Amino acid sequence: MLTPIDATAFAARRARFLEGLGQDAALLVAPPHHHRNADTEYRYRQSSDLVYLTGWEDPEVVALFRPLSDQPFVLFVQPKDPEREVWTGIREGVAGAKERYGADAAYPIHELASRLPALLMGYATLHYRPGEDLVMDRSVFGAIRSMAKPAARNGGEIPWRFVDPGRLVGELRLRKEPAELALLREAARISCDAHVRAMGTGRPGVAEYEVEAVVDGHFRRQGGNGPGYTTIVGGGKNACILHYVTNREPLRDGDLCLVDAGCEVNYYTADITRTWPVGGRFSGAQRQLYEVVLAAQIDAIDAARVGRPYREMHDIAVRRLTEGMVRLGILQGDVTENIHNESFKRYYMHGTGHWLGLDVHDAGVYWHGFKSRTLEAGMVLTVEPGLYIPPDDTLAPEAFRGIGIRIEDDIHVTADGPENLTAACPKQVDDVEAACRA
Ligand code: GLY
Ligand code: MN
Ligand code: MN
Repeated sequence: MLTPIDATAFAARRARFLEGLGQDAALLVAPPHHHRNADTEYRYRQSSDLVYLTGWEDPEVVALFRPLSDQPFVLFVQPKDPEREVWTGIREGVAGAKERYGADAAYPIHELASRLPALLMGYATLHYRPGEDLVMDRSVFGAIRSMAKPAARNGGEIPWRFVDPGRLVGELRLRKEPAELALLREAARISCDAHVRAMGTGRPGVAEYEVEAVVDGHFRRQGGNGPGYTTIVGGGKNACILHYVTNREPLRDGDLCLVDAGCEVNYYTADITRTWPVGGRFSGAQRQLYEVVLAAQIDAIDAARVGRPYREMHDIAVRRLTEGMVRLGILQGDVTENIHNESFKRYYMHGTGHWLGLDVHDAGVYWHGFKSRTLEAGMVLTVEPGLYIPPDDTLAPEAFRGIGIRIEDDIHVTADGPENLTAACPKQVDDVEAACRA
């Protein structure tokens, strides 16, 4: 049974955030609720920063943090509205914000602009991200402008310095709590099962969307929210399109199929890629290329250790992939030279991973200045090298053209070394072939 993230945990996160703010205030804004078209709506997905600090799921919410005050956590929320609630569901309202979400003060969202001046008085620095919601920008900066005269008359700083709130929340989100790790483990477990099912489904003639349906259907049947990002199912050369989500072509015998899919559980997502033979057996060339990617991935995972620079995994993957490509005649000449002149990027054009958590590309910086940050226990990241040989690439031997391969696992950095959260998903050639023929 999963331990839910409870009110105490949210309060503890807010306490850490308020401590980090020091003398500054922060204003976090929910993303707009987009309509799909006409009167139909997408299911709303709260911003990960807001979910992390408050647990609040509904749209039209603004959280204000004021560490110097006796009401440090203020929520502006949709007020109760029986007529609207018939259409879109029960609202927590202002009372719910205080009683169930721990707000020290709460107001209807339409009072934001009129209340901000009093609430922000005395704060010179505001953590706020302009440019995401221009209507909100106008309210916030209009409110701040209106503070100038009263501040001059009565004294008090007004916000004049703006900082991205993501920097501070990102540092908190980067180090996972035990309850977050439990959710990531559950997301990983469901996702591994889904990938195995995909391997068993993707026979010749089956459409990419049928594989997608099996994967996404499994996520929902298991109680996940669905995919944490749009599921990628690329047969044959479609695997060379990194963000291929069209998923509407038939799978062909003799081709590989690349599936990049992760289940989201209580806002936390897994992110797994597997590449497997549609007909159940790798061809000689496919297998050669696959083994290069797999060896690179295994070596890169081994570098996910406390105290090592984040960047090292990428450097290791690049070296192994380049060595493999030179060995297979895809690149010519010296390995180091191919790395230095970046000719490997013709076939490996993306990074080797990213932080993972509430967002698939999770919060947290990778660099301190020009120095790669050091890995710490509790961080979770993906390791996902790949090789993509375009179908019309005349420089590569013909046997490799049109093959795209990526292998991606989710790694928890621990004091005892890398813990592969997605180890249950087959990736050795024999295991993948067996899962495809099951
Ligand atoms: N699924 C997106 C990624 O692997 O980064
Ligand atoms: Mn990824
Ligand atoms: Mn992925």
